This record gives sequence, C-alpha cells and structure tokens, in this order.
Amino acid sequence: MASVDILFQPVDLPKLQLKNRIVMAPMTRTFSPGNVPNDKVVEYYRRRAEGGTGLIITEGTCIDHPAASGYPNVPSFYGEAALAGWKKVVDAVHEAGGKIAPQLWHVGGIRRPGVTPGGDTPGHSPSGMARPGKVTGHAMEQADIDAVVAGFAKAAADAKAIGMDAIELHGAHGYLIDQFFWDGTNDRGDAYGGDLADRSRFALEIVRAVRAAVGEDFPIIFRYSQWKQQDYSARLCETPEALGDFLKPLAEAGVDIFHCSTRRFWEPEFEGSDLNLAGWTRKLTGKPAITVGSVGLNADFLPNDGTANFREAEPASIDTLLERFEKDEFDLVAVGRALIANPDWANQVRDGKFEGLAAYEKDMLAELV
Ligand code: FNR
Repeated sequence: MASVDILFQPVDLPKLQLKNRIVMAPMTRTFSPGNVPNDKVVEYYRRRAEGGTGLIITEGTCIDHPAASGYPNVPSFYGEAALAGWKKVVDAVHEAGGKIAPQLWHVGGIRRPGVTPGGDTPGHSPSGMARPGKVTGHAMEQADIDAVVAGFAKAAADAKAIGMDAIELHGAHGYLIDQFFWDGTNDRGDAYGGDLADRSRFALEIVRAVRAAVGEDFPIIFRYSQWKQQDYSARLCETPEALGDFLKPLAEAGVDIFHCSTRRFWEPEFEGSDLNLAGWTRKLTGKPAITVGSVGLNADFLPNDGTANFREAEPASIDTLLERFEKDEFDLVAVGRALIANPDWANQVRDGKFEGLAAYEKDMLAELV
C-alpha cells in the first residue's frame, strides 16, 4: 500500500490552513431538540476533532427562513440559543486542534409538512417543484428569493462572528440551491430559469451576498453534485466544457473551495479521462477541490431506501485514494459514514490501524456517538 503520509501533511490553501487532508463530510443527525445544538452535539464534534479530523463540515444547519428546514430536530443557524450552541461546538473543536465550517442549508421543496420551525409553511422551490413534474410547494417570488439570499448572507456573517473557520453552502443533492440549477425542478420563465447559466443566477446571488457579508479573506466552500436525491442519475453537466462554464462564474463570484459530491470517489466523471468530479473541478477552475464518496467503504451509497448493504471497511479503497492524491488530482478528502462509525478514523488511518476500524452500519445513526 502507498504511504498514508500524504494524507497527513499540512495543507496550505489560499485562505485556509489545515493540519491534514481529512474533512468530515456534512451529515444530518437530527439530535438538536428545539433546533439548538446541545452539549451532546458539542461532544460529537469534539470527538471527531480529537480523532484527528483536519476540517469538520457540520451537518446541514438551516438559515433563517420559514421554509428552510425539512426534517425534525435539525439545528438552526440563527437565533441566540442556536448560535450559542454552535459557539460551544466551535470552541470544543478548536481546543481539540481542529477546524470547522457550518454547512448552510435550505431544503426548498423537499420538506415534510409540519416540520418546525415554520409550522405548516409550504415548501418553497424555484417552480413549486421538489421533484420533476410534481408541484409540492409554491414557486418562489422575488421577495422569497431576496429573503433567502439575505438569510444565507446573515448566517455566513454569524458563522464568522462566532469563530467558524469557513462556511459551506449546500448547493448539492437536489435541495433549494440545486433545485434552481437542475432543469428537473426549475422551469421558471423569468431570469432565474432558462439554461444552466440562467439557472445559476440564484446561487451566484447567494455567493456574492455571502462574500460581501464575510469579507475577502474568509473561505467560502461550495458543495455541488451531479446526482440528486430525487434522481441519482441526474446530471447538470454532460461534458467538461459544460462543467467549466458552470463552475467558473461561481469561482468568480467568490467560491474559494469546491466540494464535489460523488457517491464513489474513484469513478471517472467523463469518458476519456480518469479524473473524477473533484479532479475536473480543480483542473477547470484552478480552485482547491474536496473529493468524497465511499472512502473506507465498498458499498453503494443508498441513503433513502433503507436496504443498503454496507459491507466492511475496505483498505483497498484507501489505497486507491492515496494513488489519486499522489497524482495531485484534488486537495482534500471528505469522509462521511466511516467517521460516524469511527470518530478517530483519521488517527487510526494515520497509524495504519485498518483492522481496528469499525464497519459502518445504518443502526449507528440511532445515537449520537
Ligand atoms: C449525508 N450526506 C449529506 N450531505 C450534505 O451535503 N448535507 C447533509 O446534511 C448530509 N446528510 C447526510 C446524512 C447521513 C446520515 C449520510 C450518511 C450522508 C452525504 C454525505 O455528506 C456524503 O457525501 C456521503 O455520505 C458520501 O460519503 P461517505 O459516507 O461515503 O464517506
């Protein structure tokens, strides 16, 4: 096996210095009663920082907008109590030598009725569609759009104020920002609909507003994906040229780091090259890129149907990862489920203790360990 040392060298990105290349992937955990992250949440993140994770990206945390939250007990990122809870998380992670960024989230039309906060506020989505052809909420009007843009900017400013090291915008997986990107959910006839460049207008407004709110030196991470929870085979871009046209305006608007969400990091994104989505993103934009997807696992990522068969962690996929880092394809790697199963995943890998790693099982989500 190639040496794991390459994962554990300090990384000096333009606005973010990290002790290693390991990132905790954002994972919704629904353990914040009243939408306030409590001391159990503090300890959960502290354990991952103590376990050697270089950068923690928190679970999706909702901006201040009545329809932002789609699931019960998801933490908010506004209001005195929630921000005080997050401040404790920040301090704990810093004490343990880690860095942390909140993932700022609006679910758009993917929203169960009755979820708090927001009561029965109908979901907002670009065209009232959360799924192709299915109207579930109401189409966003300009006032909604302006309120959401302002909500993201305020949350980013608050993140900086409580000592977060960066913010991540959740532009992936078929949630609100991605509902604008994707033609399956955006059939607007105004300036926010049309081709992908037009459908990017909403995201660009958010990135620019966030940049204005946090200043030039604070890192903005943008997570995006081809796949949608509504359709794993969905694609925003079929060619590298299209991907470049999609990403460059986001970079110009202020994105510093792209978090390229794929379900299996080793899969080539386009025919004719081994580069994955993160590899292409870095090549096309010149910006640092985070890869992700089944690191330390060898099973498909099937979060929705409850039947996923997660087999044992497989060092072979780590080996493949190391080879890709040696080729300098991407800058950082996010680890999700393996870090739920093993809070000290980074330290275990650093020390070569693969046999000691627990395999991820879905039951592990029942508790916040
Ligand atoms: C996720 N994922 C996810 N992604 C995201 O952008 N925001 C989120 O809040 C969540 N929530 C979430 C919860 C749970 C329980 C899982 C398992 C996953 C996706 C996650 O960040 C990651 O991209 C995938 O899990 C793939 O990485 P792994 O698990 O294969 O390392």
